[in-house]
Amino acid sequence: MNVTPLDASFGATVTDLKLTDLDDGAFQALYDTWLRYSLLVFPGQHLDSEQQVAFTRRFGPLEPKLELYEFSNITGDGTIRTAPNDDMIKILKGNMDWHQDSTYMEVQAKGATFRAEIVPQTGGETGWADMAAAYDALDDTMRRKVDSLSAQHSLVHSQNKVGFGLKDEDSEYMGYGMDQPSAPLRPLVKTHPETGRKSLTIGRHAFGVQGMTDAESETFLSELVDFACQPPWVHHHKWAAGDIVIWDNRCLMHRACPWDMTEPRVMYHSRLAGHPDHEFAAMI
Ligand SMILES: [Fe+2]
Repeated sequence: MNVTPLDASFGATVTDLKLTDLDDGAFQALYDTWLRYSLLVFPGQHLDSEQQVAFTRRFGPLEPKLELYEFSNITGDGTIRTAPNDDMIKILKGNMDWHQDSTYMEVQAKGATFRAEIVPQTGGETGWADMAAAYDALDDTMRRKVDSLSAQHSLVHSQNKVGFGLKDEDSEYMGYGMDQPSAPLRPLVKTHPETGRKSLTIGRHAFGVQGMTDAESETFLSELVDFACQPPWVHHHKWAAGDIVIWDNRCLMHRACPWDMTEPRVMYHSRLAGHPDHEFAAMI
């Protein structure tokens, strides 16, 4: 395989391999490459859904409700969702703020694959941000401060905050994360269980830093995101149909970028479960 680093502190494009045709040795080399770069982009693989799930599963167990989830702005019969109160649109728009997946569950995700099926002509990129490099770049005072802090994480909170609260009943969004009775308390700094690197756990789902007022917490967290999500710690991928990526959710944040939502965009997501020993945080 051919590995070309991206123009950022992380990430690589991988070519000259077929993801459906990796023996155990080739897969182990790919896994090690993933740990090193955190984000791998595979252009033009054109996997189907079954192949995507099988490929993702080689990296570890999947989250049961998210073995394969369609993030798209079209309905089952192919019409484009246009209603502003459509819950799927609200989730898509909420995901345009930086976040990590499943931090609002007791066990945050290990990672995910994401595959492009239908892409708009412009916009609709996915961005990632390197929370390990951002943590390393903090000055000593700030690093000591974040080392001692924790925040809660909630999808209900993050959707409501941007005015995209979802219906309690009859929602077309499957409700994952919206059904949580409380919110886990996570340290702002996470140690990666496989690389040992420390990284920031922040983003749109985080709120209520312990020991701060709500307003102080909001300001502190948003300034931290602004600091962390800037070059060279960010990369945005311009999708072509048939591309697939895999990212490490233990050290990267990600977001979707806006597009003209009268154009269809259909993406498939398969989510790797975190390890209960390493990605668990108790609800409070
Ligand atoms: Fe996400």
